[in-house]
Amino acid sequence: MENLTVILLLVSAIAANAASFPFIFNNLLRVDCGVTGETTETYNNQSWFPDSFFINPGKTTHISSSPNVPQVMTTLRYFPDGEDKQNCYRLPLINTEKFIFRAGFYYGNYDGKSQPPVFDLSLGGQKWATVNSSATTDVPVFQELIYAPRNDNISVCLAGRKEYGSGTPFISSLEATYLDEHETSNRTVYGMMRNGTAYHLVARLNFGGYDQVIEPWSGWSRTCEERLNRYWTPQPMPGYTNLTFVPITCTGTAYENSPPLSVINTAISPTTASQSIYVPINFATTTPQSAYIVLYFYQDLGPDNVNATRNMDVNVDGVMRKNVKLQTYTSGEVVTLYPVLVQGTANVTISPANGTVLPPLLNGMEVFYATELAEEASSSNGVFKISYSVVVVGVCQLFVIVFLGLV
Ligand SMILES: *[C@@H]1O[C@H](CO)[C@@H](O)[C@H](O)[C@H]1NC(C)=O
Ligand SMILES: *[C@@H]1O[C@H](CO)[C@@H](O)[C@H](O)[C@H]1NC(C)=O
Ligand SMILES: *[C@@H]1O[C@H](CO)[C@@H](O)[C@H](O)[C@H]1NC(C)=O
Ligand SMILES: *[C@@H]1O[C@H](CO)[C@@H](O)[C@H](O)[C@H]1NC(C)=O
Ligand SMILES: *[C@@H]1O[C@H](CO)[C@@H](O)[C@H](O)[C@H]1NC(C)=O
Ligand SMILES: *[C@@H]1O[C@H](CO)[C@@H](O)[C@H](O)[C@H]1NC(C)=O
Ligand SMILES: *[C@@H]1O[C@H](CO)[C@@H](O)[C@H](O)[C@H]1NC(C)=O
Ligand SMILES: *[C@@H]1O[C@H](CO)[C@@H](O)[C@H](O)[C@H]1NC(C)=O
Ligand SMILES: *[C@@H]1O[C@H](CO)[C@@H](O)[C@H](O)[C@H]1NC(C)=O
Repeated sequence: MENLTVILLLVSAIAANAASFPFIFNNLLRVDCGVTGETTETYNNQSWFPDSFFINPGKTTHISSSPNVPQVMTTLRYFPDGEDKQNCYRLPLINTEKFIFRAGFYYGNYDGKSQPPVFDLSLGGQKWATVNSSATTDVPVFQELIYAPRNDNISVCLAGRKEYGSGTPFISSLEATYLDEHETSNRTVYGMMRNGTAYHLVARLNFGGYDQVIEPWSGWSRTCEERLNRYWTPQPMPGYTNLTFVPITCTGTAYENSPPLSVINTAISPTTASQSIYVPINFATTTPQSAYIVLYFYQDLGPDNVNATRNMDVNVDGVMRKNVKLQTYTSGEVVTLYPVLVQGTANVTISPANGTVLPPLLNGMEVFYATELAEEASSSNGVFKISYSVVVVGVCQLFVIVFLGLV
């Protein structure tokens, strides 16, 4: 019965979104740039579509050495005619609500010139970022932002610039993840983010936890795992105590924005109740910016802890922004600070507040900066092509997923 429901839901989803089917699956559009042939690639149990469905210009190639990067980063599309020319993807979307857009770049000296290029990336006809592929030669560079598009499709374009040395633009991966607020059962997702504004990711950190990056969920049933296709980076904080809580089910108001359990279940804390947690944040530029900061607080101490009160004050650059009180042994709160005017740096301090029994704690943190994005009204840049073969791929994928649901 449950599986029948899944099939019926999928069928109705297809009917409702005929134009975007079968590219968007589980709210995710994943594009592997530079893959040849119309096949679906599987990396980490995740399906990626070849980018030939979404773009015409450019050439494809692969990294010939065997770098220690995910398979999806080993192929790329590059644009030899890139200078001052727009080379555009057009991505099909399912609606005009919030999406996470992420673009990945891994140079890997694919052209043998040892000259990692610098070039412009745009979204909806507006500047997204300057990509400096040399900033990190051994690891991929990612650009990520959250934005609610004006239309149910959007362009992503690359262009070289003379002032950056006219390098050849390239791209390795492209993702759009729909932030479904209904599916996350009564939880808002980044509720203070406004339409018409793009929120660029600066940091998404897991405190007190594992050394490994927490990766997106890859199955139907693991509802407490990361489900919004985000990556959480471990942030070791020398001098603080690591706290680990026993696993619980992830429901309730403490799960605004759907943080994965593995972020919520660990935290840092000072050793005594009179000390503070101090987290410095560095922004790439010193121009004044409006920051969007999310702080995740959670404790699960077990019923024997009658003295479970943590009273904390959240300060940014010495200004008190919010009081957080965790009063029962299982309790949590998600605090969003927006807008926070910053200039190059921001210093977040979690200090003990009046009458606290336990020291402050902090489980996770996300930081974005906001830019206005005056998206083009309409544009013919880029294409997307639904062909017979992609429908076949999509239908096969559907059956594979339904089949996995049965086991
Ligand atoms: C892929 O899915 C299968 C079946 O659910 C699971 O056994 C396997 O561990 C998964 N692999 C990865 C890399 O997640
Ligand atoms: C933003 O756009 C979405 C989709 O068009 C709409 O549902 C929502 O109400 C808008 N939000 C605001 C704050 O205008
Ligand atoms: C790109 O990064 C490299 C290495 O960090 C730096 O030397 C160079 O100035 C950067 N280029 C631009 C245009 O920002
Ligand atoms: C993208 O959306 C615009 C506005 O709804 C529409 O006019 C255009 O046809 C769409 N482009 C494609 C390729 O579907
Ligand atoms: C959704 O949230 C509202 C307000 O917090 C609450 O009254 C309602 O019971 C919740 N519904 C569900 C299904 O959890
Ligand atoms: C806490 O965990 C981090 C790993 O995230 C580790 O580097 C650090 O040494 C740990 N701190 C203590 C006090 O054990
Ligand atoms: C709770 O904390 C108060 C103040 O620190 C202390 O006096 C009391 O003994 C504690 N109670 C228990 C059961 O630990
Ligand atoms: C943050 O703290 C550092 C080190 O104490 C200091 O240099 C910097 O000026 C502070 N930034 C702000 C915006 O207060
Ligand atoms: C702290 O608590 C004491 C005693 O309850 C009270 O007199 C004082 O006003 C409180 N201070 C703040 C900042 O709330």
